[in-house]
Amino acid sequence: SPSDPDLVERARAAKEKLGDKVFVLGHHYQRDEVIQFADVTGDSFKLARDAAARPEAEYIVFCGVHFMAESADILTSDDQKVVLPDLAAGCSMADMATAEQVAECWDVLTEAGIAEQVVPVSYMNSSADIKAFTGKHGGTICTSSNAKKALEWAFEQGEKVLFLPDQHLGRNTAVRDMGMTLEDCVLYNPHKPNGGLTAEQLRDAKMILWRGHCSVHGRFSLESVEDVRARIPGVNVLVHPECKHEVVAAADYVGSTEYIIKALEAAPAGSKWAIGTELNLVRRLANRFAPEGKEIVFLDKTVCFCSTMNRIDLPHLVWTLESLAEGKLVNRIEVDKETEAFAKLALERMLALP
Ligand code: 13P
Ligand code: SF4
Repeated sequence: SPSDPDLVERARAAKEKLGDKVFVLGHHYQRDEVIQFADVTGDSFKLARDAAARPEAEYIVFCGVHFMAESADILTSDDQKVVLPDLAAGCSMADMATAEQVAECWDVLTEAGIAEQVVPVSYMNSSADIKAFTGKHGGTICTSSNAKKALEWAFEQGEKVLFLPDQHLGRNTAVRDMGMTLEDCVLYNPHKPNGGLTAEQLRDAKMILWRGHCSVHGRFSLESVEDVRARIPGVNVLVHPECKHEVVAAADYVGSTEYIIKALEAAPAGSKWAIGTELNLVRRLANRFAPEGKEIVFLDKTVCFCSTMNRIDLPHLVWTLESLAEGKLVNRIEVDKETEAFAKLALERMLALP
């Protein structure tokens, strides 16, 4: 739906008043009405780097979800303020691993006698607490665009990886990119005693996958892939690695949001694509590439937005920008100093990956 012209004008005016004092970051899953005001758009890896590269901006307005704003706060200087336009924009996947659960898991690994061999690798989609745990135990952060490099690095440091919190990204990267088998992976369930695993299973595993997932990408099924192939002969199936293993295995291409965009930019006219990721992005890409004769459809028959990403809408952005323009700091995301120090260590290990 087209954005309210009055709100568009208010956002424009407030942004102009703020000038270089504000820098607006927009994740690819944001609504069009928000994306139009982003100074840069990107996947979570690119946005983390872009936030760090703007020391002159007093306010970083992060149009994305809570863990992304936390990461931006960790990577920017102390006097820069990171603002999330709606504090309720969380991520259900990030919420699936709490600091207490992860500390308990480490006890289980210690009990099984393997903690010393284990290197934690945590997906960007995790709280600052989990990133701090990762940094403290010699591990790194990864995103969907560098998960393979992060795992290669981790297996140079130790024999086993504890992958948090997205089982699918962990499994897909291990099996698709690292030549491991499904049997090399075990699933740690934080709701069961000892993660639902025996010490022997833990000792035999190479990849200990945390039992978390993205509910948006979890909706795509093998059936959605088979359906679209039957409906559109010659279609290329391109999915995000947060999808289930069977979906990724049946797809033609797999990659982060940034990868998906680049693949479609490079696609020849007349090609047909079914995309398995969040719907705001897929719709935007379908509209953008239709004039070039590229047919782009959503992989599933149902509609699936990320409801928390969608919480950031134009009214919230206008309120945020107008408040900042009046000198009122709202919705600041600030990670405490101790958490920040260890989380930063883990994030910097990621940024230093080749
Ligand atoms: P990327 O943009 O890093 O591919 O991440 C997708 C996602 O789910 C972000 O929440
Ligand atoms: Fe979290 Fe999934 Fe939404 Fe990304 S798409 S923010 S992983 S719930």
